[in-house]
Amino acid sequence: MTSKEIRQAFLSFFESKSHQIVPSAPVVVKNDPTLMFTNAGMNQFKELFLGEVQAQYSRVTDTQRCLRVSGKHNDLEEVGIDTYHHTLFEMLGNWSFGDYFKKEAISWAWELFTQVYKLDTDRLYVTIFEGDQSEELTKDVEAYDLWKSLIAEERILLGNKKDNFWEMGETGPCGPCTEIHYDMRPDQERQAIPGQELVNGDHPQVIEVWNLVFMQYNRLKNGTLESLPAKHVDTGLGFERLVRAIQGKTSNYDTDVFQPIIQFIASKSQIEYGADEKTDIAMRVLSDHIRAVSFAIADGQLPSNNKAGYVIRRILRRAVRYGYTFLGFKTPFINELVPLLAEQFTGVFDELHQQQSFVQKVVLEEEVSFLRTLTIGIQRFETFAASHDKVDGDFAFELFDTYGFPIDLTELLSREKGLQVDMDGFRRALQQQKERSRAATAIDTSDWVIVSQGDQTDFVGYDKLEAMTQILRYRKISSKGNDQYQLVLAVTPFYAEGGGQIGDSGSLVSFTGEEIYVTDTKKENGLIVHFVNELPAVLQGDFKAVVDKAKRIDIESNHSATHLLHAALKEVLGEHVNQKGSLVNASVLRFDVSHFAKITADEIARIEDIVNHKIRENIVLNEQRSIPYRQAIDSGVTALFGEKYGEFVRIITLGETFSKELCGGTHVSSTGQIGYFKIISESAVAAGVRRIEAITGTHAFAVIKEQFDLVASMRELLNNPKDFIAAISKFISENAELKKEVENNIKERTLSMRADLEAKIEIVNGVNFLAATVDLPNADSVKMLAYAIKGEIDNLFLVLGADFDGKPSLIVAITDSLAKERGWNAGAIVKNLAKDIQGGGGGQPFFATAGGKNSKGLPQAIARAKEFLT
Ligand code: ALA
Repeated sequence: MTSKEIRQAFLSFFESKSHQIVPSAPVVVKNDPTLMFTNAGMNQFKELFLGEVQAQYSRVTDTQRCLRVSGKHNDLEEVGIDTYHHTLFEMLGNWSFGDYFKKEAISWAWELFTQVYKLDTDRLYVTIFEGDQSEELTKDVEAYDLWKSLIAEERILLGNKKDNFWEMGETGPCGPCTEIHYDMRPDQERQAIPGQELVNGDHPQVIEVWNLVFMQYNRLKNGTLESLPAKHVDTGLGFERLVRAIQGKTSNYDTDVFQPIIQFIASKSQIEYGADEKTDIAMRVLSDHIRAVSFAIADGQLPSNNKAGYVIRRILRRAVRYGYTFLGFKTPFINELVPLLAEQFTGVFDELHQQQSFVQKVVLEEEVSFLRTLTIGIQRFETFAASHDKVDGDFAFELFDTYGFPIDLTELLSREKGLQVDMDGFRRALQQQKERSRAATAIDTSDWVIVSQGDQTDFVGYDKLEAMTQILRYRKISSKGNDQYQLVLAVTPFYAEGGGQIGDSGSLVSFTGEEIYVTDTKKENGLIVHFVNELPAVLQGDFKAVVDKAKRIDIESNHSATHLLHAALKEVLGEHVNQKGSLVNASVLRFDVSHFAKITADEIARIEDIVNHKIRENIVLNEQRSIPYRQAIDSGVTALFGEKYGEFVRIITLGETFSKELCGGTHVSSTGQIGYFKIISESAVAAGVRRIEAITGTHAFAVIKEQFDLVASMRELLNNPKDFIAAISKFISENAELKKEVENNIKERTLSMRADLEAKIEIVNGVNFLAATVDLPNADSVKMLAYAIKGEIDNLFLVLGADFDGKPSLIVAITDSLAKERGWNAGAIVKNLAKDIQGGGGGQPFFATAGGKNSKGLPQAIARAKEFLT
């Protein structure tokens, strides 16, 4: 079977068991603060397990793109070195939400493996949970007995909490699991050592392929387990490993999932795959990492310098570095893998194919900039190595942190120079940085406290800005010493941040009249949480929830304008433009769009024109709720990449043939309410992504009025000329001429002063000495004068003082040879003299300046100058 057939067979099998096939969620996670990237197929169903949201289907199946590169499940360092871990991998899964449980899950897994995939039963082993005393969990006898009817008993192994109790993260849904392992060793080896001894022993040929989790608990913040409202099944079958087992390969990379890419890399580098361990690892790293990077970008996460963006940047840099060091790719190459990958995933995850040129461009730009950094870092290393006999931990860390050098690169470079790297020191520095960043971002969340029954919030904020409600639950969150509370309400008019639109703020008024301010509203998994700085005195009873109306109106104006802008951009720039991010708040709207060139002033003007035209048309909003997703897509709506849409969607139409988008945000009821639209900036945010900022309504009017007033005052300053631009140009050129004239004038004056001053020079102790105050308008002219005299007179000690409108200044100039001979220092002298003018200064031994505050002290400073000669 080809990998394509293997994937399809899985989905079809579960479809035949009444499972609904659903699409993969994006790999970038948006509304779960405990997670950056999707790390398991079950992530998108977390809220169903917790009972926060009702399931649409009780049985589903899919292939989910996952990334295990941060947090609890992190495989990054293994990737490429071994042959069966990946950054991005596909997890095939089947789920039961309160429907079937262990019996069906186990027997179907067995049926699929033995009847459909026809895997060799002689190579299969299963593990079940042995129980855990400290958690008061008993052995999974039920799973054991179920397996006993299917597989020889000696192939059923017991596993501990680490291997057979699956948890999504520090908190969240979890439960005992049973795993299926496959032994891919040749017969001879299998006879020598039985597979039982190698299961879960990190043997590269005896590996876990499928994990069936029986979700029954929720791990709370305080470490205890709470039973879930219902029992669920969550399975995860590693696609790449499965393909390898079925195709009888000893490495995931030898399957048709990776070979096309590896062979492309091999031909470009002119190194054969399999020729050498080092170059093999590098090829595996490249062929793996490009998958993670490409899908993250396609799902909306651009490489950047923080959080998820930084993780992606690091993965890409790891690939660049392996290519650079081991495969000789000194110029950008990795981006060339994108089309190959896009082709491979067409029909599976179309998001890549649809954004191929954009993704490729972003990868290319990252490569260019990192290769530059790499070159600079290597120079930095060379300089360091030339003057040190050891690479200390701090320097290794600097290379790591600033230049993106993984430690093994530093070790490699050091070895070549015969230098040792202080690894302990490096680890310490790394640890310190980790602690610093943890402290900076740590958010401590307590467990929920239930106030009244129910956990589903009825959102009424599309229709109302006020509603009667009750508090269902609350919890405390602390970050950087700030305490806040999150409330979940039975009914809420508050819009939770999402789709770029910020969350509502407003207030909660209790039946006793107490008013609590809601600072923000966000979505966390399936819950709408309201942020408050303090809890109401009485939590029970009715509350009136009131949204800040003025703010909401401004937000709606900006959100609807964003849709108009999106449509106008497509009209003016072309259909290739896709939304890459947006922010809508009360004062401004920000829209990031994939486009490869700067948007010209002319294009901006046309875009503004279209949007304002649509505003004046006063188009009435057409809002359709609960439209089946397929139907919506077929009707030609704009859907966004990287967005996870449910089965039913909401369509916002502003002009049937103009703007039709899937959107959960709030909008004006007709476009006229937007009033006016004005773009205030256009810039680049990343390779191939332009950012537009714009304002609407009262904010736009305020800015226009400000600009209008500004021009009016400028006109007035010029006595209201008929042709303002001509008048300003004339003003500027006249000013330039005058400036030149003044400068010439000063120059002449300065030079004419020189003769007078030189006449006053006296000889003291064999030195030509002059100290005088001069009347010149600025420091430059005094300096010029001093240099002019110094250029004419040998053996000179010169002190000049001047007063620029109450700002006294001093210059000391000494002939270079004299300064050297006598060890005089103009800097020290000027510092001393400057005491008289309450100032300070410095410079070189032969020329120094000082400024001060007290002009009255100038004569004394000048008088004291002679003392330095004696
Ligand atoms: N959620 C389980 C896993 O990721 C299936 O292994």
